[in-house]
Amino acid sequence: MFKFSLIVCVYLVALATFGKADNEQPVTSKDRFRLHSGDLMPYVGFGTFRIQGDAQIKEVLDHVLGSGYRLIDTAQVYGNEESIDKALKVLLPKHNLTRKDIFITTKLDSTYLGSDSVYNRIENSIRNLGSEYLDLLLIHSPGLSSRNSKSTPKNDSVLRDETWKVFVTAVKQGLVRNIGVSNYNVRHLTELLRNDHGIKPAVNQVEWHPNNHQADLLELCRKEGILLQAYFSLGGTGRKEVLLNRPEVVKIAEKLKKTPSQILLRWALQQKIGVIPKSLSEAHIRDNLSLDFTIPAEDMKTLSGFEQNRLGFSLDRYQ
Ligand SMILES: NC(=O)c1ccc[n+]([C@@H]2O[C@H](COP(=O)([O-])OP(=O)(O)OC[C@H]3O[C@@H](n4cnc5c(N)ncnc54)[C@H](OP(=O)(O)O)[C@@H]3O)[C@@H](O)[C@H]2O)c1
Repeated sequence: MFKFSLIVCVYLVALATFGKADNEQPVTSKDRFRLHSGDLMPYVGFGTFRIQGDAQIKEVLDHVLGSGYRLIDTAQVYGNEESIDKALKVLLPKHNLTRKDIFITTKLDSTYLGSDSVYNRIENSIRNLGSEYLDLLLIHSPGLSSRNSKSTPKNDSVLRDETWKVFVTAVKQGLVRNIGVSNYNVRHLTELLRNDHGIKPAVNQVEWHPNNHQADLLELCRKEGILLQAYFSLGGTGRKEVLLNRPEVVKIAEKLKKTPSQILLRWALQQKIGVIPKSLSEAHIRDNLSLDFTIPAEDMKTLSGFEQNRLGFSLDRYQ
C-alpha cells in the first residue's frame, strides 16, 4: 500500500512539475504555435509590407531564409505575391528547403470584402504565389477599405460574414489550410466566434506594441486558442523612432546588452504573441530573429506600462 501511494505521489509531482514547466516554458524564436487545424505556425515571421519588385524581394528573402525565418507575411495589397513566388523558386532549393518548410500568409484585399470576387481573389493569390495552397488567409480588415466604402449598402458585419463563409469553403476545398482575421477588436472577434460557419479563426493580426495593447483582446484570443500576431512591433515603417528611440527601451536594451528592436520583439514573444518584423537590412533581419533571452519582470512591467497611443487607424471605426 505504501509502495503504491509512493508511486502515485511521484507520478503526481512529476505531472505537476512537467505540466507547469511546459506551460511556463518561454517561447523561443524557433517555436511554433499549434493552430486549430493542427498545423504549426512559427511565432516569429517576416513582414513584407512595402518590399516590392523582383530584385528587392529576392535579395531580402535570401537573407530571411538564410537567417532561419520560415514564415513570410504578405497581402494582396502589398503587390508582391508574384515577386515572392519568383524569389522562392530560386531560394528554396538554394537553402535546401521545400514549399512545405515555409509558412505563407496572405490577406484578402479589403476592397473585395463581402463581394462576389472573394473566391476568385483567393485563387488569384494561390496563382500569384505559385503554390497549390495558402498556409493562412486573413481578412485584412473588418470593413471595406475607404476608397470603396460607399459602393455597397451592406454593413461591415454582413460583409465580414459573407467573406468568412467563402473562406470556410476554401478550406473545405483544400485551397487554404488555415483562415483568420486581422485588425479585429473584441467586438468583431466575438461576433465571428458566435457564427463561425464551422471554422474558428486561427489568428488575429493586429497593431501591437508597448504603446498599443489591450488585455481583453489578448485574453479572448488565448481563451479561444487563437494566435495573436503583432504588427508594427518596431513602430512601423516610417515611424520606427517612436519606439526604437524611446529612452526606457534604449535603457533596457543597454542593460540586457541587446538592441532596442530585440527588446520590443522579445516583449511580445515572451507573452506568446507572434511577431512579423520587416527590414531591408541584412543585419537587422538577423538581429530580429535573435530573441532567445529573458526580459526581467520589472522591465516587462515598464514596457507594458507605456501610455497607450495607437500608431495606425482605430479598429472601432468599423461597425
Ligand atoms: N494586417 C495589417 O493591417 C498590417 C499592417 C501593417 C503591417 N502589417 C505586417 O506587419 C509587418 C511589420 O510591420 P511594418 O513593416 O509596418 O513595421 P515594423 O516591422 O514595425 O518596422 C519596420 C521598420 O523597422 C526598421 N527595423 C527593422 N529591424 C530593425 C532593427 N533591428 N533595428 C532598427 N530598425 C529596424 C525597418 O527599417 P530597416 O529596413 O532599415 O531595417 C523598418 O523601417 C509588415 O511588413 C506587414 O507584413 C500588417
